Amino acid sequence: MGRVFDPTKEVQADFALVKDALRNGYQNPFLFIDSSVLREKVRRFKDALPRVRPHFAIKSNPHPEVLTILRDEGAGFEFASPAELRQMLDLGVPARELFYSNPVKAQEAIQAAVAAGVQWYVIDSVEELRKIHQLAPNASYYLRLHTSNEGSTVKLSGKFGAFPEDVTRIITEAVKLGADLAGATFHAGSQCLNPDNWNIGINAALETFAQMRAAGLTPRLLNLGGGFPVEHTEAIPSIWAIAKEIESSLAQVPADIQIIAEPGRFLVSDAGYLVCKVIGITSRQGSRWAYLDCGVFNGLLESITGIEYDFRTDKTGAMTEWTVAGPTCDSMDICTRSQQLPEDLVEGDMVYVRNAGAYSNACAGTFNGFPLPDVLVV
Ligand SMILES: Cc1ncc(COP(=O)(O)O)c(C=O)c1O
Repeated sequence: MGRVFDPTKEVQADFALVKDALRNGYQNPFLFIDSSVLREKVRRFKDALPRVRPHFAIKSNPHPEVLTILRDEGAGFEFASPAELRQMLDLGVPARELFYSNPVKAQEAIQAAVAAGVQWYVIDSVEELRKIHQLAPNASYYLRLHTSNEGSTVKLSGKFGAFPEDVTRIITEAVKLGADLAGATFHAGSQCLNPDNWNIGINAALETFAQMRAAGLTPRLLNLGGGFPVEHTEAIPSIWAIAKEIESSLAQVPADIQIIAEPGRFLVSDAGYLVCKVIGITSRQGSRWAYLDCGVFNGLLESITGIEYDFRTDKTGAMTEWTVAGPTCDSMDICTRSQQLPEDLVEGDMVYVRNAGAYSNACAGTFNGFPLPDVLVV
């Protein structure tokens, strides 16, 4: 596995602005979003990968103000559901610029996308190709390939992606149906620290294009998916380091192939601080526990998917090990059992979770009656 790190500093939300937001008091957990960071992240992506248009993965943060800022900064979008499509149409994003990247879609969802004018649909099976073709004979398709997720924190290769034998069957079926199978995609795994996953994906796509051409199809789209990482507590390869590592693979992609990517986390995570509060402290069998008003179910789901958040406080005491848990009664609601926090942390202290703008409010629910985090975009 080729891990590449470099000392390029990532941008992050201005903590002074977070403090300002607290001047009027605190009621519930909230996600603070620094809009200048959102803008800067789109610019950095485009600067590092000028041939690749970022199509934001709405799922990582569907807040309307976030989407508006990313749209204004020139990002495109990929969507996964009729509700996300509706948000895009409400924002005035032209349907023909949207990519429907959920590999298995309900018939009603396909019909809604067709009615809105969406052209591009992902598939990873013969069944999905037939289903969409019946509803939308003029649709264009990109094929999701099963590729390596090695070195990614959140694996995404377990549920979707065509294996080589499926690829051959899908191409044969597309030719038989007269369907416009014209692209390929993959997902390197979310929070991918191993740039080789993109090289592997690009090479798999190039092989797929060769197969498509041999069958009489005309490939036109390469979609690099998401996976571009952000810094929490572990060093990461910067977007420029990733760009350098995949430069020669990208150079092999013919000029008539449009290249896009679907960054989610990369564009929104650094802009956000999740602000919450300690609601209880205890000791259990020699371990210290801090219970927060925000946990796995209402904002910090990713703490149980392998993301090691950077929890910060205003306290300055010596650091010691804590278990950090959320407010619900479910024993799944434990964010981490080995968090370094000041030993003088007490009930009522604020906790600031750095770079938490992705998959936080997006994945939160109201289990046990605890509120969703508010979102404050500044
Ligand atoms: C199809 C697709 N594209 C893009 C993304 C965004 O990935 P990331 O947030 O790692 O950039 C996801 C995440 O699940 C996805 O499923």
